Amino acid sequence: MSRTIRLGFLGLGNIGSATYNLLRDKADRIAERAGAEIRVAKALVRDASRPRPGVDRGILTESVEDILGDPAIDIVVELLGGEEPATSLMARALRSGKAVVTANKLALALHARELFEASREGGARLAFEASVAAGIPIIRSLREGLSANSVAKVEGILNGTTNYILCQMAERGVGYAEVLAEAQRLGYAEPDPSSDVEGRDSAYKISILASLAFGRACSPSEVSCRGITEVDALDIAYARRFGYAIKLVALAERREGGLYLGVQPTLIPADHPMAHVGGPFNSVFLQADVVGDLMFYGPGAGPKATASSLAADIVDLAREPGALDPPELGSGLPLLPAGSRVGRRYLRLLAPDEPGILGKIATVLGAWGVSIQTLTQELCPDGRARVLIFTHEAAESSHEAALGEIARLGAGLETESAMWVDSLGGR
Ligand code: HSE
Repeated sequence: MSRTIRLGFLGLGNIGSATYNLLRDKADRIAERAGAEIRVAKALVRDASRPRPGVDRGILTESVEDILGDPAIDIVVELLGGEEPATSLMARALRSGKAVVTANKLALALHARELFEASREGGARLAFEASVAAGIPIIRSLREGLSANSVAKVEGILNGTTNYILCQMAERGVGYAEVLAEAQRLGYAEPDPSSDVEGRDSAYKISILASLAFGRACSPSEVSCRGITEVDALDIAYARRFGYAIKLVALAERREGGLYLGVQPTLIPADHPMAHVGGPFNSVFLQADVVGDLMFYGPGAGPKATASSLAADIVDLAREPGALDPPELGSGLPLLPAGSRVGRRYLRLLAPDEPGILGKIATVLGAWGVSIQTLTQELCPDGRARVLIFTHEAAESSHEAALGEIARLGAGLETESAMWVDSLGGR
């Protein structure tokens, strides 16, 4: 093979090592696909003297300049993670004409415009398939596979940690805190799980997908974000009784007037394939005008799945280094403000079991234009009534105004839970 593409890895941790091993173990297949020999020429590490089995010691360096300043390096593979210094290093590499491959969702979600600009300036490509849903080729599908389509909606289970926790709560009927503690003990959840459980990780990922799907720069700060910390085992049990599963759903939806972005615990129909996405897996559901509904499923984290997407990007860049294609991110499509979702809701209220209480609830909802689809009441052991309501579609402002008025009624009424219900294109 006459051509050699030289890679400079920034980082050689779990994902870097998995990618290094994949490029070595499948070198022939990858070279054939890339039309070039792919060689890891340098790898930035903290301690170059530490032995790393299977890694050629001669490639290790502790100096970023050995990679960014080396004209022989064609592609920088950024695996440092986090916002900085990763973003600045990628921008610098791109401006100097080196292609960049990354798995960094934070850098892409927060600095896409700056990185795409650097890519244009340096005439160097930036590839980031592994930044969302690790092994699922969703970036490529949005950018290439759907180019004849207008996308109406992108929804996803984009965080494996929270999906694992919700699945365990559903399977075993145990509470959030207990499952989280166990997941941390087993290493399935981070010691500090806040970015996952509060929904921020999903917000980063949906803002990247939304930017590509709708050609508009979307920032994670524009995503209405609620995590799973308030999901109660009772809600999961009631949802199941009424034919739903609760998932942390990230949503980007084009509505009249603009684009809505949200991450919220959501009731989805138990017979929809998305309800069966189990454990740490990810899934993306798309509605587009030509193809119709699409769904992707697969491992959304882990070194091998991430290495699979990184290697695909490396092959792509090695094969077509000149096919410069940073997405155009305009600002034409307005973004709908937080609190402007329209949809159905599940409500769980606690009420004294006395004459007229249901009437009061129904009157307030009706006054705010929130129509009740089904209402069920059951008695609690303490003599109070638990009222479970599924509403028809209404604006979030109406839902919230009604719930605020119910809270002000006093009368011992308490809203224990309010979640969105999403039919995912079905009934
Ligand atoms: N923390 C993420 C998850 C994986 O639980 O899905 C990395 O994006």
